[in-house]
Parts: sequence; structure tokens; C-alpha cells
Amino acid sequence: MSNDRPFHRGQRLRRSPGIRNMVRETRISPGTFMFPIFVSHGTNVREPIEPMPGISQLSVDNLKAEVDEIGSLGIGSVLLFGIPESKDATGTGGYASDGIIQNAVREIKNAQPDLIVATDVCMCEYTDHGHCGILLPDGEVDNDTTLPLLAETAVSHVEAGADIVAPSAMMDGQISAIRSGLDSAGYTNTTLMAYSAKYSSAFYGPFRIAADSAPQKGDRRAYQMDPANGREAMREVRADIEEGADIVMVKPALEYLDIIRMTRRISEVPVAAYNVSGEYSMLKAAAQNGWIDEDRAIIEVLTSIARAGADITITYHAKEAVALIDG
Ligand code: PBG
Repeated sequence: MSNDRPFHRGQRLRRSPGIRNMVRETRISPGTFMFPIFVSHGTNVREPIEPMPGISQLSVDNLKAEVDEIGSLGIGSVLLFGIPESKDATGTGGYASDGIIQNAVREIKNAQPDLIVATDVCMCEYTDHGHCGILLPDGEVDNDTTLPLLAETAVSHVEAGADIVAPSAMMDGQISAIRSGLDSAGYTNTTLMAYSAKYSSAFYGPFRIAADSAPQKGDRRAYQMDPANGREAMREVRADIEEGADIVMVKPALEYLDIIRMTRRISEVPVAAYNVSGEYSMLKAAAQNGWIDEDRAIIEVLTSIARAGADITITYHAKEAVALIDG
């Protein structure tokens, strides 16, 4: 060993920016980012979301400009969430052929055919009670009557041109129900991205404001995972892969980097991680107060998610991050 030398090996490799870049173990690139978009009803809507500076609800007519920018930055994909004009008990707006997401997908595919379009498949944005499925009289979600509606939703998104469907309702059997629904509609090629390890998290707070989807009564703890559990997440991941998921997802990302790593170890399919709204809001709030260096924090966050093992990162930082990537 070289204890008598002025620099040890690590120090030599860190001294020049060029060498530092050359030996960097983790690289992030725009093609691996998925940018969430909140699509609002109405026309000419560009409504800033207060807790998420830089992010707005956009109406369908404003999507072309948005995805032209996203495409020119080299960002690989978008993930769509809908904010419909009206809601009802069975969330019919979610699977209408001229629903908000279906219109949005057609508009985006028209403007940017090469941009990969993923859609969130859930009912909570379309139900008047705000739960992710059909409710029984006792207020519990009815897993089995919800499944065919999720399949119908997925089929309607793919009919409109979606490349990836991402069921987030956390119903048991939703992956196989959606897979067989797509198969029988003749869509055998669609990629299924499963929200496999979806935790019951305080960090969804700003999203629920943005998408107007907080449950009216009760919460989602019955169908989202306890943050204390890691092994249970592996059971969910394995079950979703068995059922036919093409990509598995961990959500949120930063509080669950260990889960991303564990998922990477057991999964031979790509792993996605969702850098959720609350994680974004915290960083922005600290940066706006001058308490952290925003640019460095963004890159550090995205690098840590990739280092943990994510192949794809769903992030509201996608657009601003592109200019910050060095090498
Ligand atoms: C449910 C859904 C949620 C998010 C994505 N899909 C909210 C929830 O489960 O309450 C949260 C994403 C974020 O916080 O950025 N359709």
C-alpha cells in the first residue's frame, strides 16, 4: 500500500473533473426520465400547482407545446393523470372513449409520435368519493367489481394510443385482469408497468391537491403498504411479475431506496421508481428559502435513485434536470 505517498488511490481519482467524470459509477440520462403531466378539463388551462412550483395542470389544447419541449429535451416518456370535469360513484370518466386521458393520449401521439406515453390506471381521480375502486355499502373498496373497470380503462387508453399502462389502484389481481382484458381486445403488445411496492405515504400530499383526488372519507391504508415493511414489498413485486408485469415500480423513491435496491436484486424486469410530489415540494421549498443549492440537490436526488437500482425514474424534475446533467 502507498501510505507514504501524498495521495491515495481514491484521492487521485477525484482530483480532476475529467477523471472524476470518467470513473463515475452512476450516470443519469434524459431517456430514463418519465415526466408526469396533470391533464385538466377545459381549454387554455395552464394552472400552476401551488405546492409544486414549476408544475401546472394543462388542458388538452396546451399539451402540444408541452410535449414538443419534452421531446426536444430528449426525455423518454410521460405519465398522464387526468382531472375530469365531473366525477361519479363508478368513475365512468376514467373509461369513456372521449375521456380526458383518451383525448390527451391522442393529442400527444399526434404531436410527438416517438415520445412514449404511459397512463395511470386508477379510479380515484374519477370517483366522487375519491377511492381507487368501487365502494361497498359499508365503505370498503370492492376489489372484484373494480377489476373489470380497471381493465376497461386500460383498454380505452391503449385504443387511444398509449404505449404503457400503469395500474396504481392496488387491487389484488389487477395485473392479470388488465393483461387479459388487453389480450382479448387484441392489444398483446402493450407494456404493463405495475405500481408493485406502493406505500401508504405522507409524501403524496401535494399530488392529492394537484389531482384533486384525496379520499373524502377514510384513507388508503387498507390497500397501500405499511412503510415499515420491506419483505412484504418483495412478495408484491414477485406476484406482479408472475401476473405479467413488464416493469415493476417502487413508490415513493427517496424514503424507500433500500426497497429499490432489494427489488433490483430479485427482479429481472426493469425497475421504475417514483420520485413523488412531496419529495419534489420539499426540495423546492428549501431551495426557495435559499436553504439548499437547488441544482446540486436535484442531481443528487436523481443520482441516488439510479444508484439504488432504478432503470426508470418518474420525476417532476425531469425537464429542469436535463440542463444540469454533466457528462
Ligand atoms: C393514485 C396515485 C397517487 C400518486 C400517483 N398515483 C396518489 C395516491 O396514491 O394517493 C401520487 C404521486 C405523487 O405524489 O407524485 N392514482
